[in-house]
Amino acid sequence: MPATVSLEAEVFSQEQIAGRVQELGREIDAHYSSGDLLVLGLLKGSFIFLGDLVRNIPRPLQVDFLVAASYGSGTTTSGDVRLLYDPETQLRGKHILLVEDIVDSGNTLNRLVRLLKGREPRSLEICALLHKRIAQSLEIEPRFVGFDAPPLFLVGYGLDHAENYRHLPFIASLKDPEGTDG
Ligand code: IMP
Ligand code: MG
Repeated sequence: MPATVSLEAEVFSQEQIAGRVQELGREIDAHYSSGDLLVLGLLKGSFIFLGDLVRNIPRPLQVDFLVAASYGSGTTTSGDVRLLYDPETQLRGKHILLVEDIVDSGNTLNRLVRLLKGREPRSLEICALLHKRIAQSLEIEPRFVGFDAPPLFLVGYGLDHAENYRHLPFIASLKDPEGTDG
C-alpha cells in the first residue's frame, strides 16, 4: 500500500535533539550516585534515542530492552500488557530507568510500570524523549523529559507511522494524521 501521508514540518531539529540528549545524559548521571543502573529501552520507538542517550551517561550502566504487546486488538491502548521480550537481566535491587519515545495517553507506561514494580527494583524512573502532557493519571510521572510535544502526530528519530519514518534524524509532524495508530 503506498504511503498516503507525507511530512508537514520539522518540529525538533537534529541539532536540538542532540543538545537536549546531552543535557539529559548529564541529568541522569547526576541523579544516580550509587548502585547498579539498568537502562531499559522500550522497543521499537526508543531505539535511536536510547543509543544516543546512553553514550551521554558516563557512569557505569547496563542496557536491555523490553518488547511489550497489548492484549486485545485494534489501535486502542486499553487492556493488559504482556512482554514479548522479557529482559533476562535481573531487575531486583537495581535502579531501573525505563526509556520511552513518547508519552501520549500514558496507558503503555502505566501498565509497564505496574509490571516492573513487581520485579522489586531498587528504584524505577522514566525517561521520555517526548511528553504530550495530556495523560490523565500517570503511575509515575517521567523524571527525565526531552521535550514537551505539541498535540500532533510526530515521526522520526525512532517514532513511526505504520513503521515508516523511524530513520529520520529529526522529528517532524505528518500532513495527514488520519489512522495514526502508533
Ligand atoms: P500511550 O500509551 O497512549 O502513551 O502511547 C504511547 C505509544 O504510542 C508510544 O510509545 C508510541 O509508540 C505511540 N505514539 C503515541 N503518540 C505518537 C506520535 O505522535 N507519533 C508516533 N507514535 C506515537
Ligand atoms: Mg509506535
